[in-house]
Amino acid sequence: MTTKRTGRSAAKSAPSLHPPVLVLHGPNLNLLGSREPKHYGLATLDDINRALMSRGETAGAQVETFQHNHEGGLIDRVHQAARDRVDFIVINPAGYTHSSIALRDALAATAIPFIEVHLSNIYARETFRHHSYFSDLAVGVVSGLGAHGYELALEYAMRHLQNRTPHGSQKTEKAH
Ligand code: DQA
Repeated sequence: MTTKRTGRSAAKSAPSLHPPVLVLHGPNLNLLGSREPKHYGLATLDDINRALMSRGETAGAQVETFQHNHEGGLIDRVHQAARDRVDFIVINPAGYTHSSIALRDALAATAIPFIEVHLSNIYARETFRHHSYFSDLAVGVVSGLGAHGYELALEYAMRHLQNRTPHGSQKTEKAH
């Protein structure tokens, strides 16, 4: 399990422009770099996390990353995210994508908007990977773009947070 944090709490002097984003990685993603590179590429989890945290730092957004191999660890982290008032989650549920009603329920319970990310294109692989317990709840899904998919999801999350009013609701179009 790893937790890393950047932004507001890491760089105390840098003012944060956005509320925090949590990036969650499911089981076996700690093995990235050596795990089935034809599906998952050669970037390690540290490479991916470093790139995301550096992007967050540049934008003045607090980005925290967390990986766990157990369902309960991920569920507890989602509950903590709600207590910490995390505003957006980027999650690769990995194998739990196709099996975990409990992790889905945790995200539904907290109602924190999230983007589901997969390094590989799950729809171009075995049929058991074609079903996700998360996609219908997700703001969006990025699948098959490798590590770049996380960066796209983070960009979207930061833009989404920028458009929020200070009270947390989304800006709405002016009625004409
Ligand atoms: C994955 C795809 C899942 O089917 C698989 O179990 C993973 C990784 C991906 O990032 O492509 O562990 O979520």
